[in-house]
Amino acid sequence: MDGDKTVTVPGSVGVIGGGRMGAGIAQVFATTGATVFVAESDESAADAARKRVSDGLAKAAERGKLAEEPAVVLDRVTVSGDLARLPSNVDLVVEAVPERVEIKVDVLSRAESVVSDGTVLASNTSSLSIAELGAALREPGRFLGMHFFNPVPASALVEVVTAPATRDVVTDRVREWVRALGKTDVVVRDSPGFATSRLGVLLGLEAIRMLEEGVADAKAIDDAMELGYRHPMGPLRSTDLVGLDVRLAIAEHLHSTLGERFAPPQLLRDKVAAGELGRKSGRGFYDWS
Ligand SMILES: NC(=O)c1ccc[n+]([C@@H]2O[C@H](COP(=O)([O-])OP(=O)(O)OC[C@H]3O[C@@H](n4cnc5c(N)ncnc54)[C@H](O)[C@@H]3O)[C@@H](O)[C@H]2O)c1
Repeated sequence: MDGDKTVTVPGSVGVIGGGRMGAGIAQVFATTGATVFVAESDESAADAARKRVSDGLAKAAERGKLAEEPAVVLDRVTVSGDLARLPSNVDLVVEAVPERVEIKVDVLSRAESVVSDGTVLASNTSSLSIAELGAALREPGRFLGMHFFNPVPASALVEVVTAPATRDVVTDRVREWVRALGKTDVVVRDSPGFATSRLGVLLGLEAIRMLEEGVADAKAIDDAMELGYRHPMGPLRSTDLVGLDVRLAIAEHLHSTLGERFAPPQLLRDKVAAGELGRKSGRGFYDWS
């Protein structure tokens, strides 16, 4: 891959896990003209992933964000329940499977055994160690974090997370691909929570503690940050959109790596135990039903 200075958009991309994030990642790469292969855990999960990509494209077309018909873009996307069918010549593989080391290591190693030497491998993890995930690979130099944000098509940022082993040529290429998607990259050294999750989760946890202590209600806390500090979205509304379960898992990881300031508040644990996971379950800190 060294020496090739002409590349802008990857011609073909593999996405592992076609959930909320994976479907969005597949959508944005297919929209730039790439051929995309999405690998899901089985055929019924593949059907659901295909529908997510299709719905995402329909929504983008409704908003006037697609230069082509949605069906034309969708034609470039193949969704399969079998990772072994990943084409070997993809330029990039991004995994977006659940935030668990063992699942991520498993799918990344399986992908590496299929793809060619020039393929870049990336993880969309929000908080796990890129060095630890990369250590399971034969060639960790081709691996880094590509941390997309939710919803992927509308978000402006991709955090590019480099481990000590990541080769500079790989980082440079990925930064170029991010810009080709019309997004901005920030390069962050591999460390717990990177830049975004570390700061975003800390703010969210403090807002939950303030709610617990009765300092103010959810809307007042969010308004304070939205109007007082010009945050586009308050920390509690943002936690509802990300998912309380997702936030709790990240907080637990940061608690174990960075210390007490990331200890998850009891209210967060109680809400997750009660199934109040935010917008996706109809209720979190707000009522979304
Ligand atoms: N939700 C967010 O706001 C957000 C933001 C940034 C990053 N992330 C990260 O993105 C990743 C995915 O999050 P999500 O919210 O899209 O989760 P999700 O649960 O919506 O999607 C995960 C998908 O992976 C699939 N999957 C599970 N095991 C698999 C396997 N072995 N092979 C192939 N597919 C498999 C599931 O069927 C599911 O469709 C996580 O690492 C998360 O931390 C999430």
